[in-house]
Amino acid sequence: MAHAGEQAAGDGSGLAPATVAVAVVIAGSAAVIVVQLLRSILLRVAGIYSTPKRGQRPAAAQHASTTPGTGLKSLMKQAALAKRAAGPDFVPDSELHLASLRSTTGAVLGLAWSADGDALAAATDGGSLQGASDVAFGAGPSSLAVLTRGEGGAPAVTLLTLPRGPHGDPEPAWTRHGAHAAANEGRCLEASAGSKAGYPIIISSSNKTDIHVYSGTGEDLGTIDTGGFENYAAAVSSDGRWVAAATFTNDIYEVAFDRQGTFTGLHKAMALKGHAARVLALAFSPDLGRCATASADGTLRLWNIGVRYALAEDPKLLATARLPLALDPKLRARLAWGAGGVIALSNGHRLAFFDEAGADLLASVPDAHTAPIAALAWCPGRLTALERPTWTLATGGGDARVRLWRSPERSAGRRV
Ligand SMILES: *[C@@H]1O[C@H](CO)[C@@H](O)[C@H](O)[C@H]1NC(C)=O
Repeated sequence: MAHAGEQAAGDGSGLAPATVAVAVVIAGSAAVIVVQLLRSILLRVAGIYSTPKRGQRPAAAQHASTTPGTGLKSLMKQAALAKRAAGPDFVPDSELHLASLRSTTGAVLGLAWSADGDALAAATDGGSLQGASDVAFGAGPSSLAVLTRGEGGAPAVTLLTLPRGPHGDPEPAWTRHGAHAAANEGRCLEASAGSKAGYPIIISSSNKTDIHVYSGTGEDLGTIDTGGFENYAAAVSSDGRWVAAATFTNDIYEVAFDRQGTFTGLHKAMALKGHAARVLALAFSPDLGRCATASADGTLRLWNIGVRYALAEDPKLLATARLPLALDPKLRARLAWGAGGVIALSNGHRLAFFDEAGADLLASVPDAHTAPIAALAWCPGRLTALERPTWTLATGGGDARVRLWRSPERSAGRRV
């Protein structure tokens, strides 16, 4: 077993060992980064990078000692130095950029933070079909769902139980083969924090019109056909109640349970009516009452979905913002709604931030990555590894980088 830190130590931006398909960066309060290689042939899952809580001894100090200076603070310092020295790596020209991590296994296709904000998982294409398309945390920080690209076959969903310490391999808790037809590509994997039944709802979307719904315990809850032509993105609300896809028809489906918490079915509940062209990205608000959509019609819209849909009430439009640039439908667009009240949107190399109140544009970074951005994920709480606790966004892209960004300040009048 090799430690990725040995490879990474001389290069502050390089965190990933050479065989990583899924990397887990534990960044809750960075001091050192403990690296571990995991050897699951099934998934080629590889690294867990962890930093102990402040003031706590690293779980495996001998590993930590092999990675001097790869804490988040030092990464930031190195990023700043690299910026000044115009080093070989591209450093985004934005005061919001905090740090960049390098994936040595190709494009970063998916990102997910654990609910406690201590772990960030990245799915990388692995340089082959055996990579992962997306990741999502299930119940707890040691439960990681992975959408694999299929070994010459169809995409599959696997729930891994990650080892607690820096030793051991992840154990597959369950695998569902054939999540999508072999001819289709897995595109999005998302998990809710819970549901009426207690378990998280895990949804997996292909690039066609199907979304597969699983319980966190591995039960197959069914498939939704979203109609239209192609799912550009899919999302599940954090309470596990609503599922929606960004596509031509913008319907919201309910994952329904009876009073006893027994699953009763998947139903079409609401339609978001108003965009003049297809919706390319979509996100639910962490406070559950709202939804954001970004469309090829050049607008971002915020919706109130806390309506009496059973009485055929439609979601109410709360705000419409003109996008700083038209979205290119050939490039992936992603939306992420952070608990700090800021909504992030990416398309191509560009990253933009909007205030959840009124959808005002707060900041725009034209060149956030040197290749199209594929994934966005807000840390669910303020990242405590920094000088002061900060709302933090992670982005991943085709340039094999994960970048961390500080949230822009919300306009004073809007702050709650
Ligand atoms: C979906 O992915 C498959 C496999 O990569 C590809 O052949 C197909 O054209 C894609 N379909 C759409 C609608 O993008």
